[in-house]
Formats: sequence, C-alpha cells, structure tokens
Amino acid sequence: MLVGLKEKIQPDKWKIADHVVKLETSIIREILKISSQPGVISFAGGLPAPELFPLEILKDLSAQVIDKYNFMCCQYSLSMGVKELREWIADYTTKQGMPTEIDNILITCGSQQGIELLARVFIEPGDYILTENPTYVGALQAFNYYRARYATVEMDSDGMLIDQVEEKINKYKPKLIYTISNFQNPTGITMSEDRRVELVKIATKYNIPLIDDNPYGELRFAGKPVPELKSYGGDQVVTLKTFSKIVAPGFRIAWMNATKSINRQFEKVKQCTDLHTNAFSQYLLYEFVSQGFLEPHIEKIKADYRKKRELMLKVLEDTFPEGVSWTKPEGGLFLWLELPSHISAKELLPKAIELKVAYVYGQPFFPGGEGENTMRLNFSNATLEGIEQGIKRLARLLKENM
Ligand SMILES: Cc1ncc(COP(=O)(O)O)c(C=O)c1O
Repeated sequence: MLVGLKEKIQPDKWKIADHVVKLETSIIREILKISSQPGVISFAGGLPAPELFPLEILKDLSAQVIDKYNFMCCQYSLSMGVKELREWIADYTTKQGMPTEIDNILITCGSQQGIELLARVFIEPGDYILTENPTYVGALQAFNYYRARYATVEMDSDGMLIDQVEEKINKYKPKLIYTISNFQNPTGITMSEDRRVELVKIATKYNIPLIDDNPYGELRFAGKPVPELKSYGGDQVVTLKTFSKIVAPGFRIAWMNATKSINRQFEKVKQCTDLHTNAFSQYLLYEFVSQGFLEPHIEKIKADYRKKRELMLKVLEDTFPEGVSWTKPEGGLFLWLELPSHISAKELLPKAIELKVAYVYGQPFFPGGEGENTMRLNFSNATLEGIEQGIKRLARLLKENM
C-alpha cells in the first residue's frame, strides 16, 4: 500500500504544539535514570522503601477483589471514583476532625493529577500562583504547562514566612496559594500551627483557594502532630492526599477534598483527561483500608523511616564539613542541605555519580532558578548500610571540593 511512499513517513517533522516544545522534561526523572545505574547509592528519588510494599496482603486482596466485585472491577467506572473508597475516605477524614462527605472526595490518578486538574481549572496563561520557595518540582512542571507565573515566599524552619504572603498577594493577585504544609518536598519543613492559622486567615480574606498538597502528613515520626490546614480553613482549603507514600505509588490512587461545586469542575476536566481513575486499584485499596491494614502498615513505614532518618542525620553530623547545614524533618522522606554559597550542587553531581552516590540538586525546586548551593536527600529508599556509605562518600566529595 505504501509503495513509493515509505520514505515520506517522517514523524520527526510533525509539528509539535509550541507550548509542548517549550516544556522541559523533569530533571529529577533524568537524574533518576543516571542514579539507577548498578552500584549507585541513590538519595535522589522520592521513592518509598520497596521492601515495605505489603505484597502478600495485596496478592490475597487482588483475588478477593475479583471474587467480590466481579465484572465491576474491570468495567468503566465513575469519574469521581469508586463509591466505597470515597465513602471510606470521607469517614477517615471526618474522624481526623474535618467533617467530610462523599461528594467532597474526588479520586485522582495520583496527587500529580490533582495538581494538574487544579491548573486546568484555575490557571490561564500568565496567572500567578503563590508558592513556597523552594517547592515541589512536579507541581512546577504541571503549572508551567499552563504558563503560570510564580509569586514566591521564602521559608524558615516554621514554613512559609507569612509576613511576605499578604504583600505578594497585593502585588501579584495570585489565583492559587499552593503549599506543602507537612514535611515539605523538598525541604522536609512543616508549617507551624500559628502560621497555619495566619495563612488560612489571609487566604480567606482575599478569597484565594488554598491548596494543601499533603502526601506526607501521615508519616510523622518525631515531634508533635499539627492539625491539617483544612481543619482551620474548611472550604477555603482544597486538600490533596495520596496512597503513594502510605501504601504504594504504582496504584496511582489519590484524592482531592474540595466542596461539591468545585469538585464538579474538577470532574469535568478529569473526564477530558482519563474518564476515571483505575477501578481495580480503587477496589483493591478500598479492601486494604476497610479490612484494617492501613494503620499497622503506616506504623511499619514510620518505624523504618525513623531509623533511616536518624542514621542519616547522625552520619551527616559525624562526617560532613563545617559550612554545610541541613534540616531535621520530623517526618516524610527528605532532608534539605545548604552548601556554602560558592559551591554548585549541580556541578558536583557528575563527581558524586563517579563515587557511586546520587542526590537531586536543589535548583529545579526554585521557580526563579536560584538555590545552586542546595540539594535534596531522600532517606526512605536506601538501606541503612547504603545511607552510611552514601553519606560518607558525599562527605568526602564535599571535603575535596570545598
Ligand atoms: C509534594 C508532592 N505532591 C505530589 C506528589 C505526587 O504524588 P502521587 O504519587 O500521588 O502522584 C509528590 C510525589 O513525590 C509530592 O512530593
């Protein structure tokens, strides 16, 4: 059929939409490719510890799901998500002190999709989003697609510097306030109670949707729990939560908690994207949580990450040179390091890979591209031995280059 035409097939010359050409691939995903080389101890990704995935339980529950839900678990499903799971989440959230109904819950394909839905619903080219500085690079990637601009607010060990928020709102009129209030990615910092109250007040005063991206809140292993932003702000807050870090990311099951009418908007745009989230995964996770496996599993994860974090902090303390500082998160997956200002973490990365250790340099987390001297270290994915060896290698690298 294609005789004489074959050489005319030139997919590389197809005209890609301009805004996609301009989009950058995730630097973290690129670093992950390098750091997954054999023998490299990686502190680069945000990967949960694979040995903790509850495979035996999930194997058993998978068979149960097929028996119990039959064709339903394979059939097209509702855009808002599987009713049983939404009801369970509403109940779970209500028990945490935030009265929630099923219509407040929309199941998404990971919180990453929740972020993308927010951008689609609220952002027009050139609109501002108020974020912490630094912030989650995956959110920046999603927001950049919609050509958002950023009003950034600096942080200290209590989270966003609230004094700057109102000034930035007046100057930039942001459409959204986006925060990762618990064990922030990338810094590990948690917003203090006072700041939460203040932030909610300001968001409400200016009626700006306050987005609380909260994948790590359940993973607290030190310090005193702080109530979620939604428990202060109610309907002013849209919360994103996920099973990625508390069960497993491969299922891609997460949820948004917003008012019924705002969820209608998310539902419409979700329909354009994927019709609905994977139904089998939703039934499987519903069985996991409703049969009582979640709580003991979270305890197991916390015990493991607590040990890993403590070891990482100790080896940093014992081996790292003067002039480097780091955060001491009370939960989550990450530590954040600041090197002396003349050191570029990006330039050091190839040398680190030669020493068979990897990290993510901090620059991509800053919407304005600063932070050359920063890096993020993940402590959930390496083994205890890997943490000890890897941090010692990094210490050597820094001593040789400072
Ligand atoms: C702050 C933050 N938001 C969202 C996500 C995406 O999570 P999910 O796997 O649910 O898409 C991550 C993943 O690392 C994250 O750190």
